[in-house]
Amino acid sequence: MKKDKKILIILLSIFLILCVAGVTLHFTKDLFFSEKNIETAKTESQLLEEKGVVLVNRETFIKEANSLLEKGYSSEEINNIYEYMSEKNIQSILANEYVDLKDFYQISNFDFSKIDRYKAYQTLENIEMKDAVTWVNLNLDEPFYQTVETIEDPDAITVLVNKSHALPSDYVPDDLVAIPNYPSLKIKDDAAQDFENLLAAAKLDNVYIIPYSTYRSYDYQERLYNGYLQDDPVEVVDTYSARPGHSEHQTGLALDVRSSTHWSNLTDSDYEWMLNNSYKYGFIVRYPKDNSTITGYKEEPWHIRYIGIEHATKVHELGITYDEYYDLYLTEH
Ligand code: DAL
Ligand code: ZN
Repeated sequence: MKKDKKILIILLSIFLILCVAGVTLHFTKDLFFSEKNIETAKTESQLLEEKGVVLVNRETFIKEANSLLEKGYSSEEINNIYEYMSEKNIQSILANEYVDLKDFYQISNFDFSKIDRYKAYQTLENIEMKDAVTWVNLNLDEPFYQTVETIEDPDAITVLVNKSHALPSDYVPDDLVAIPNYPSLKIKDDAAQDFENLLAAAKLDNVYIIPYSTYRSYDYQERLYNGYLQDDPVEVVDTYSARPGHSEHQTGLALDVRSSTHWSNLTDSDYEWMLNNSYKYGFIVRYPKDNSTITGYKEEPWHIRYIGIEHATKVHELGITYDEYYDLYLTEH
């Protein structure tokens, strides 16, 4: 009996020892492996650093950098990708085979999905790559009206309306107001006060501006455009009239203005005043000289567009079209 008890105690002790050892081993194992993970991670990042890759604080960076190395990107190229490329472009680069990106790192509106079009257009037109990028983004490598996207936020004062950005046919601004003294001419409320300020400032400089065409509905623009087609072939009409849905007049932010001495245009000196001063009141001359390949229209001294003082000032300073400005500064790439 005494011997049996001893054996039982020994067996129990062995069991207890095994339990304690098991638990200890379990935790030690976890500790061991997690430390080993850190060791491995450290080694991988060290390896990348040794190759000249600058580490980026991003969860999947090590995997991505290794994948880029495998695709054939050098460490310098990888550093440039993470320094200059947008997240959308990084995802595309990771999903595609190696592409030489050296011409594109400094181009903020670069879009990886259009790289073949950029290269083709740059070669065809013999232009700088930065221009090729902006112009392809505006679909200028295609015939006008070939690619048309419907504008999602037609109420924005910065809305871009052109031959590839169309307003919904049923879009009518809900805040149209009549211009004082011109009850039949309506514009968007956002632009009304600044237009008053522009008229007053012009007057002080002996420039007498008269608005004569402001908000136009989709249907009105359709009748206008079709009317022009009675007199001119379509390729000519398209140089001076927007097709329905493509006119800024439908936004209530565009105005055609004339000098008091002219029927539908500005005198040279009044146009000069407009070019030099309208930005102070949030307006730009939307279809300037020598830019018809970008805007799609011949010069229109009479057509001004409200975009707000901040943006109008920048457009004026940069001396670029609103189409380009919109792609460069108001579009996420
Ligand atoms: N004349 C300008 C382009 C328009 O029709 O809106
Ligand atoms: Zn106009």
